[in-house]
Amino acid sequence: RTRVLTGITTTGTPHLGNYVGAIRPAVAASLRPEVDAFYFMADYHALIKSDDPARIERSRLEIAATWLAAGLDPDRVTFYRQSDIPEIPELTWFLTCVTAKGLLNRAHAYKAAVDKNSEAGEDADAGVTAGLYMYPVLMAADILAFDAHKVPVGRDQIQHIEMARDIAQRFNHIYGRDYFVLPEVVIEEQVATLPGLDGRKMSKSYDNTIPLFAGGQKHLRDSIMRIVTDSRLPGEAKDPDSSSLFTIFRAFATEAEAGAFHQALLDGIGWGEAKQVLFERIEADVAPMRERYDELMARPERIEAILREGALKARAIAAPKIAALRDAIGLRSGA
Ligand code: TYM
Repeated sequence: RTRVLTGITTTGTPHLGNYVGAIRPAVAASLRPEVDAFYFMADYHALIKSDDPARIERSRLEIAATWLAAGLDPDRVTFYRQSDIPEIPELTWFLTCVTAKGLLNRAHAYKAAVDKNSEAGEDADAGVTAGLYMYPVLMAADILAFDAHKVPVGRDQIQHIEMARDIAQRFNHIYGRDYFVLPEVVIEEQVATLPGLDGRKMSKSYDNTIPLFAGGQKHLRDSIMRIVTDSRLPGEAKDPDSSSLFTIFRAFATEAEAGAFHQALLDGIGWGEAKQVLFERIEADVAPMRERYDELMARPERIEAILREGALKARAIAAPKIAALRDAIGLRSGA
């Protein structure tokens, strides 16, 4: 079976971008008989972005409940939190030792931080932790520990998967055997990047997200009403292709529905009315999930139990893998 793996960093509240770009396609894939799915909460990665323990815990619970509410079946999928798998940081170190520093210098997130500092006339590495720098290696370990064949992600993560491949290849080359499967990135072409309220990519870091469940139906509607539009009035034709409203609508709609919305915009539907149509379309999908989500959030101990089970399943695979690697690289234990 094809092993498919993906994760979400536990620093925020799940938003429509996470749902459309990661959770929905991942849950759909997990239902295919030929897929062996590994989905996890990336809470080691969260430490790179947040030093707020309560926020990380809360986010982990919300993200886990979101996966489950979206239809993930923990009996079918290996569903776990990264920090329950000590083999991951161990593998991170093995990989660190074969990773060229120059490779990490080119990572987008690190480069963005350096560029920002340079623009501000600061020391290039000011405020940059070694954690941020090592982000791609930790992510490579997530993927390689389970020999994932395919990694479905949004566009922003492509470089990280490419780096995981590079690192795997380097390790295989140095130690002279195919110790790791080379992972492939999977992008949902249709909905690769969902725009946020301001038209930029929907992202926690831009503070432009539309939460999937948090705040309930009213908050979803209020957020949609805040999507930035141009100044065209009702009756004036709108340009669907430059409108985030249309892009978001399309991510939730059938082709026929999207066609009808496209036409309505060209015909000059007012932005307020268009937003109401968008809200109703999203709400139709979200409402039943929100009910399950609220039930799950009321029983965090149930979520914890599911994650503990998942960790056992995940470790049953990662532990022998890491043991074999220890032997391969010269860390055989005395016994
Ligand atoms: P994260 O938590 O930033 O995002 C989780 C997933 O959601 C996708 N995504 C989006 N897709 C479409 N439109 C958007 N506006 C949007 N915003 C986010 C992201 O591309 C991602 O697929 N480093 C990863 C987590 C991670 C991981 C891994 C993923 C850690 N280890 C191993 C895959 C494999 C991250 O921070 O994603």
